[in-house]
Amino acid sequence: MNKQVEILQSREKLIERAQEICLPKIQEAIKERGQCTMALAGGSTPKPFYESMATHNLPWDKIHIFWGDERYVSPEHSDSNQRMARQAWLDKVPMPATNIHAMPTGAGDAEADAATHERHLREFFQVSQEEFPRFDLILLGMGDDGHTASLFPHTNALRVRDRLITVGNKDGQPRLTFTVPLINQARFVIFVVSGPDKQAALDRVFAEKADEMTYPSRLIQPQGELRWLLTGVKTEDQI
Ligand code: 6PG
Repeated sequence: MNKQVEILQSREKLIERAQEICLPKIQEAIKERGQCTMALAGGSTPKPFYESMATHNLPWDKIHIFWGDERYVSPEHSDSNQRMARQAWLDKVPMPATNIHAMPTGAGDAEADAATHERHLREFFQVSQEEFPRFDLILLGMGDDGHTASLFPHTNALRVRDRLITVGNKDGQPRLTFTVPLINQARFVIFVVSGPDKQAALDRVFAEKADEMTYPSRLIQPQGELRWLLTGVKTEDQI
């Protein structure tokens, strides 16, 4: 796996480093393409990163926010990734509402909402049915089972190659998620991973050989740059 891995001494240092890396990427995208398209991760690790993002004075009208996955709940639900990012960051900055492209979860049918969001992405990026849009930056976390976004081990979502958005499944709970090919089309993918409970999964994700269906983060091999920021875990050359 062609990746750059950094081990930080604390979650605070990891968040600082993530800012150091991501802010220039955002500015570069805006300079080169007039806008930055950024997909956010859910979970808990990224929350302080989002809080830090809110402290910067950025050209918010040139930044478009998406989510790499979303729990199939209302935006007001405590599990909502959209809610977490809005409270930590997006509600604190003057970003136009039309720049925030939340995954829809209101149709009562996850497949239908996945198709709606797919149409929205194709329209926004002006891509045809066969093409995959290229995000400037995709932020990902990794679960202690090696999942990322809502690409959970041994689920059908891992095999979808002809769509941008599909329905993931965690213990019977539906989730909307970017597909593997959409993530892999990105210019820049950065994982932020914290916590000793992830060591076993990380060992398998970084191993020479391991089953990708069991450790879905192995499937993330972007065309562009791939970086991993870790804390509370070790890599094999450290053990
Ligand atoms: C989600 C996330 C998920 C998350 C991992 C890691 O919707 O929960 O997108 O993929 O990134 O579960 O979560 P933590 O960073 O909280 O450990």
